[in-house]
Amino acid sequence: MNPEPPPCLAIPCKVMPYEPRFIEAAAQCLIETFAQPPWNENWTPDFARERIELITCSPASRSWLLLGDRDEVLGALFGRKMRYLDFTELFVDELFISHRYQRQGLGRQLIAEVSRHLRDEGMACMVLNTERDYPSEQFYRNSGFEQIESIIMLYRNV
Ligand SMILES: CC(C)(COP(=O)(O)OP(=O)(O)OC[C@H]1O[C@@H](n2cnc3c(N)ncnc32)[C@H](O)[C@@H]1OP(=O)(O)O)[C@@H](O)C(=O)NCCC(=O)NCCS
Repeated sequence: MNPEPPPCLAIPCKVMPYEPRFIEAAAQCLIETFAQPPWNENWTPDFARERIELITCSPASRSWLLLGDRDEVLGALFGRKMRYLDFTELFVDELFISHRYQRQGLGRQLIAEVSRHLRDEGMACMVLNTERDYPSEQFYRNSGFEQIESIIMLYRNV
């Protein structure tokens, strides 16, 4: 049983499917959030937009925004659906909550609402990777994610 969001959040917000008109605001939120420790990343607006576009231009894109009461972007989850032999899953490419609104239950709420959408679409699970020992690892584990011991992630330069 996955954890459900708290019944009452301090911040009025809503989760809606991603729409391209929010790309600038979403890119800005990504830039500002990943500029914070421990990530300390220096995303340019062009790269942030490109990352979001590369995910959301796919017909497989399943992506959502967390908006405040003035439709400001507080966070987002960008992912892509993938089919396997007997199930479909969401690979989560990107997830962030603005550093101004973290630790207030919004990330957990976003995961819970996206889960409901995915279940409605008949999908089985979400998968993702994150940096070992970063705060996000604890967030995911506390949001119902488990490490798959039998799978390793590999890469090689090309
Ligand atoms: C990781 C992130 C999405 C969590 O969103 P959030 O809204 O701050 O998380 P929540 O308030 O819903 O936290 C839910 C639970 O996760 C855990 N958690 C969240 N942030 C945590 C942190 N920094 N350290 C330890 N545990 C944390 C806690 O158990 C928390 O419950 P609690 O506050 O009652 O203890 C957000 O902090 C973020 O965007 N960080 C920067 C970007 C990032 O790391 N993205 C993921 C990249 S793969």
